[in-house]
Amino acid sequence: MEQKTFITFILSAVFSSSACVPRQYHFVNQNLNWTEAQRYCRENYTDLATINNKNDIEDLLKSVNDGQIEHVWIGLQKTDSYKWKWSLGDPAFYTENNSQYRNWTPTQPNHDGDCSNMNPGQWNDYPCNGSLSFICYNDSSKGFIHVLQKMTWRDAQIYCREHHTDLVSVRNQTENQQIEKIRNDTHTTSGVWIGLFRDSWEWSDQSNSSFRNWRKNKPDNSGGNENCAVVWVKSDSGQWNDWKCDSKSQFVCHEDKLVLVQQNLSWNEALRYCRENHVDLVSVNSEQIQRQVMELARKASTAEVWLGLRHSCTLGIWFWVNGEILCYQNWAAGNGTGVEDCSDAVRVGAVQSGGDQRWISLPQTHKLNFICTMNYDE
Ligand SMILES: *[C@@H]1O[C@H](CO)[C@@H](O)[C@H](O)[C@H]1NC(C)=O
Ligand SMILES: *[C@@H]1O[C@H](CO)[C@@H](O)[C@H](O)[C@H]1NC(C)=O
Ligand SMILES: *[C@@H]1O[C@H](CO)[C@@H](O)[C@H](O)[C@H]1NC(C)=O
Ligand SMILES: *[C@@H]1O[C@H](CO)[C@@H](O)[C@H](O)[C@H]1NC(C)=O
Ligand SMILES: *[C@@H]1O[C@H](CO)[C@@H](O)[C@H](O)[C@H]1NC(C)=O
Ligand SMILES: *[C@@H]1O[C@H](CO)[C@@H](O)[C@H](O)[C@H]1NC(C)=O
Repeated sequence: MEQKTFITFILSAVFSSSACVPRQYHFVNQNLNWTEAQRYCRENYTDLATINNKNDIEDLLKSVNDGQIEHVWIGLQKTDSYKWKWSLGDPAFYTENNSQYRNWTPTQPNHDGDCSNMNPGQWNDYPCNGSLSFICYNDSSKGFIHVLQKMTWRDAQIYCREHHTDLVSVRNQTENQQIEKIRNDTHTTSGVWIGLFRDSWEWSDQSNSSFRNWRKNKPDNSGGNENCAVVWVKSDSGQWNDWKCDSKSQFVCHEDKLVLVQQNLSWNEALRYCRENHVDLVSVNSEQIQRQVMELARKASTAEVWLGLRHSCTLGIWFWVNGEILCYQNWAAGNGTGVEDCSDAVRVGAVQSGGDQRWISLPQTHKLNFICTMNYDE
């Protein structure tokens, strides 16, 4: 590839006003019903948007970037299948099957409610509008916090998300014992809310995210047949509502389908391979994509895996081959400074397959596995 092409790439990225908007979300300014919007996203990107956590909501709102838009469809749709899931719904928080750990009292769940409490140590399903104290989880301190004030499950969720991270998730017996100890230590005789709830909403892309951010008293199926979800943009910004799927709305797609190619190629060969067989070498422009990349890289047969990251000696900067500048970064110490050895082969970027899986700078001649972005229907 020619230096000139790269400079054009970089300059267009630097001077584009949206250069630092994370790109996993794509706002589509067309009014379609939910099914039409889903089809549009699957044809042009990956699928209708999936949301894993609060940061994703911020990113999604930034992608809309238009104060006049009232609401947008996301990929959440009601199904016939009710399942228990955690309020802290980001799949990245769980490993293997530990989101499926349960410690029900033997006679429970007996289907008298869609929320659950712990008492003592064992779990019970319970009506969500009951009033109980509750346990929050704080991801910065990794701590469990017993809040003694009694609230409904939804209000407890709001409280935990505001002051900590979320209502507590219980991933194994050790955590269950730690949480029970905290409950017991306050001499609480009644149950305490934990983050487990039941609903029948699922994401269009089959993601396991159980993160929900409904507006107060939603979903309520108020008009009947409100089986699809929108995010409010203008007012109640970031909160969700259930809507009739045949209503029309603008919408947000996401794009993140990745594939690990287990061939040992130089960076230039890998770039050509991705562009010929898929879409491109991956651009890791958000934490969400980094997490997917980390998961794939762990399965690689080489110690590092190529990313679509390249250094320009002319400009002394790193950039993504799709023309974006680096907003999100995850370099290993000493790497990615922009000061590189320009006398030798072009320097390009790779992610480590193990350890804390940071990015490192390598000459493009190394032979590594690599990750491409794909079309949805591949
Ligand atoms: C919870 O985490 C926040 C940061 O998200 C921190 O500022 C706060 O001190 C933590 N609170 C407790 C009780 O650990
Ligand atoms: C329980 O889960 C936590 C969080 O994943 C983990 O650190 C801990 O090692 C697990 N303990 C057991 C006994 O599996
Ligand atoms: C629960 O608390 C009581 C005192 O309130 C104590 O006697 C008991 O040992 C505690 N149980 C556990 C399992 O820690
Ligand atoms: C969702 O979870 C199930 C069971 O835990 C797992 O088999 C499946 O692969 C997961 N799906 C995705 C898209 O991660
Ligand atoms: C790629 O390289 C790794 C590490 O050198 C090696 O273990 C693996 O077998 C190679 N894969 C192929 C397909 O040549
Ligand atoms: C880049 O990171 C790798 C892995 O941590 C390290 O071995 C290497 O020394 C770093 N490069 C520089 C120039 O510091």
